Amino acid sequence: MTEADKEACETVRVSENEPLSGKKRLFIESYGCQMNFSDSEIVASVMREAGFATTSDVNNADLIFLNTCSIRDNAEQKVRNRLKHLNYIKKNRPGTLIGVLGCMAERLKTKFLEEEKMVDIVTGPDAYRDLPRLVEEAGTGQKGVNVFLSREETYADISPIRLNSNSVSAFVSIMRGCDNMCSFCVVPFTRGRERSRDPYSIVKEAETLFHDGYREVTLLGQNVDSYKWTPEGEAVNGALGETPVNFANLLEMVAKVNPELRVRFSTSHPKDITDEVLYTIKKYDNICNHIHLPAQSGNTRVLEIMNRTYSREWYIDRIDAIRRILGEDCGVSHDMIAGFCTETEEEHRDSMSLMEYARFDFGYMFTYSERPGTLAAKKFADDIPEEVKKRRLAEIIEVQRRISLERNQRLLGTVQKVLIEGPSKKSDEDFSGRSDQNKMVVFPRENHKKGQYVDVLITDCNAATLLGRVLLPEPLLG
Ligand code: SAH
Ligand code: SF4
Ligand code: F3S
Repeated sequence: MTEADKEACETVRVSENEPLSGKKRLFIESYGCQMNFSDSEIVASVMREAGFATTSDVNNADLIFLNTCSIRDNAEQKVRNRLKHLNYIKKNRPGTLIGVLGCMAERLKTKFLEEEKMVDIVTGPDAYRDLPRLVEEAGTGQKGVNVFLSREETYADISPIRLNSNSVSAFVSIMRGCDNMCSFCVVPFTRGRERSRDPYSIVKEAETLFHDGYREVTLLGQNVDSYKWTPEGEAVNGALGETPVNFANLLEMVAKVNPELRVRFSTSHPKDITDEVLYTIKKYDNICNHIHLPAQSGNTRVLEIMNRTYSREWYIDRIDAIRRILGEDCGVSHDMIAGFCTETEEEHRDSMSLMEYARFDFGYMFTYSERPGTLAAKKFADDIPEEVKKRRLAEIIEVQRRISLERNQRLLGTVQKVLIEGPSKKSDEDFSGRSDQNKMVVFPRENHKKGQYVDVLITDCNAATLLGRVLLPEPLLG
């Protein structure tokens, strides 16, 4: 896993300071996945209309939003702990309003208000347009709740306010919800039915970002390969084109915005990723050679009870297609769950052998956490003891660490095109950015600039990062 991905996966994102004159102050803290980070940018935009500017100082906020995640029990515990701390703030500043947004709000609904008395507002992921009303209501002492899940809402017309942005790369949501029913997963319950956003609004957002100096967009959805948009009434005059748009078409449309705008996407579902998508990636230099293809298990029986709707062989076929069409160097990452219900030692070893076969560049790996209301919670006992889950996870992580290192060592002596994102975490003297395959690359800063593409000769590496020096810098782009 690269540093950037660790960050995306594990850290909490906090809003930045906007100029405040005459405005009320909103502090937003976001947990969970990139979709949540992207949603917080929509929330900031909705709240700006209602007279709020974001702040990075929780102690000075008039309104505090936690945009929450329910994916595993520990994600929810983090939010509970945070609320305990916010209680102190509320005691010191009694007028402060606290809102819980996102997946945990949706999962627990009004129960949240019973369990966490100081929470004033509970809002699910499809109800953010209603926030100004809910906040106003809460200001009069009434609790504000809206957890309505929509079949249509995509927030297509809202221009997100970029929070925590490096001003180089941005997330763009292309769809919401999920229609798969993986038996372990809470997302279909917290985010509702799958719906795709109007492709023309996506292209417009990418164009605006490019114009504003951004050089990379990451298209987001729980299952981007099932993106599907049908024009319906909107193409009456043929003005918008009358054919439906699938994910490969959308990728192409965004890639054409500008060859200097990198396009990334996440997440691909192994059952849906088509050769057409792979050929589209191959066709455009600016569509990055990196695919995040969660496996969850390497054993067909376990995949079946997970309701992933593919087998080990199917997954291997997709890996083979990636290597055949995009080559050995294409970055591939994965998610893996250790200790799902009834998983045997042999089945656990199948997950590790799949990792050896696929040669993943990095992975997000978890122990199974039972989620109330899911198919797995209803049908199967959570029967693998915690210490066994932890041991299996440690084994999986160790295999991944070794393969990540080997994959990085392959690149020693090569030249990688890197988009500079900013100073490296460890030293202001160094810059960091990502390669085409999504590997973090660190190199001496010299006179280079953020947002610039540079060719970096890779001279050293560890399992997480490539190190090198810039060859022949290109002039500043944009
Ligand atoms: N839509 C993506 C995954 C979104 S959730 C996909 O289908 O691949 C991100 C990851 O969290 C999942 O890939 C899975 O590995 C992990 N995850 C989801 N539910 C979990 C649970 N109950 N316990 C442990 N890990 C879980
Ligand atoms: Fe969850 Fe499966 Fe949907 Fe991913 S595809 S969000 S794991 S239900
Ligand atoms: Fe968490 Fe919801 Fe994302 S449960 S992982 S924030 S979709």
